[in-house]
Amino acid sequence: MRAWAAIPAACTAILVAAGNKPEEQARFLAEGEAKMVVARRCANCHTAGNFTKFRKDEAGWEQVMADMANRGAEIPDDDYDGIVAYLARNYGPAAKMVINRAPVEEVGKILELSKEQARSVVAWRDAKGVFRSFEDLVKVPGLDARKLESKREMLAF
Ligand code: HEC
Repeated sequence: MRAWAAIPAACTAILVAAGNKPEEQARFLAEGEAKMVVARRCANCHTAGNFTKFRKDEAGWEQVMADMANRGAEIPDDDYDGIVAYLARNYGPAAKMVINRAPVEEVGKILELSKEQARSVVAWRDAKGVFRSFEDLVKVPGLDARKLESKREMLAF
């Protein structure tokens, strides 16, 4: 009983720390049919960056879904397939990172940047608008353009 009661409390703590509503988190998600469903079902306890930073195949995402169900996520049967398909397509093993939407955690993980560098990328995007090309991205102060060159193919603009 006590353990179950602690789950919503833990979620509230995570959410308050993140200060974000699921609808606001949708802007960090790749475009796709199930985007809003994923925002509502997966970005309510934690932010989108918690899962968009990963690259997994369908089986891997199904594993995550089972894990989240154990943590208290309620995923209606009608939403399940759409969520898995969306995650496997946009965050699959070979999925590129949509640099104009990706949250800080994903930018940092995929480009192997420090937290500070990843924050600079997102702050620059928020301040200046979209990155149109790789050349735009490497203008962000504090990035190592030569090191980033090897990640070029992982980016979608
Ligand atoms: C009931 C709350 C809740 C919901 C809803 C939820 N999660 Fe989680 N999730 C957690 C908690 C708690 C953790 C562990 C703490 C953390 O990483 O913030 C977690 C962690 C994760 C992790 C990180 C696991 C790791 O190994 O680091 C991933 C990936 C994830 N969630 C994906 C999802 C996806 C995808 C959905 C939507 C299907 C979802 N979550 C919905 C509570 C939830």
